[in-house]
Amino acid sequence: MVDKAVSFLTSQVTQRPAIAVVLGSGLGDFAEHVSDAIEVRADTIPGYPVSSVVGHDGKLIFGTIRAGGRSSLPLLVFKGRVHFYESGDLKTATFPISVAAALGVRYLLATNAAGGINPAFSEGELMLIEDHINFTFLHPHLSDQRSDPTPFHTASSSPLHKEMKKYIHEAAGALGMSLRSGTYCWLKGPSYETKAEIEMLRRLGADAVGMSTVPELILATELGMKVGAVSLISNMAAGLSKGPLSHEEVSETATRVKEVFKSLLEETILRIKD
Ligand code: HPA
Repeated sequence: MVDKAVSFLTSQVTQRPAIAVVLGSGLGDFAEHVSDAIEVRADTIPGYPVSSVVGHDGKLIFGTIRAGGRSSLPLLVFKGRVHFYESGDLKTATFPISVAAALGVRYLLATNAAGGINPAFSEGELMLIEDHINFTFLHPHLSDQRSDPTPFHTASSSPLHKEMKKYIHEAAGALGMSLRSGTYCWLKGPSYETKAEIEMLRRLGADAVGMSTVPELILATELGMKVGAVSLISNMAAGLSKGPLSHEEVSETATRVKEVFKSLLEETILRIKD
């Protein structure tokens, strides 16, 4: 199915992207800042999974970031993602990453909305993902049959690439923006966590929690991409926030910080060099 999607896309768009950006919950507006944009709707691409979550539009945008006389490497923005909990299938959830790799993408910048677990964090802050905890114990290659000599046991002690972390830190510094950094924990969802679960994750060293991104980072790294990721702390997690959590609260925070988020992403993307 990936091959079909890729031949369709290469028949529509001649540009070959070097950087892919995945936009998380409520963060899709960033796509409006892509110059020379060619937009392809996900539901027109053969085999491409379409998200049913509010705030996940289902569009691929090819183009460039231009700002202050500078322009980025060719870019592919995934507006909206398909979460594991929608299909229960990791091959489906990571389909965009397989497509990006087949198109020649070498850098991945993943974004998400996450619940803050570190009590020092506040709603609306941005966090560079320094490391992650895969609390689903799933893997995109689980149950794969390997007929080729590709090793099953790949190193994953530094899943986030140091070059990408550097670009993100430098971008925040250049913008005079405060940026948290920490460990992101991936849970399957789709319900938000209990207070006891959040307390457990805090003791295990998680700074933020969410339902996405980690499988993308794992697969992209295996496919040879340099990966970086940023979380928007859209709410404090269960037990650390006042009322019950809702998807609306997540989206509202994302709307409130969209300018800051846009600046960090733009500045990071402009720094990525071949
Ligand atoms: N928990 C899990 N996923 C999330 C949260 C949360 O509190 N906020 C945004 N995505």
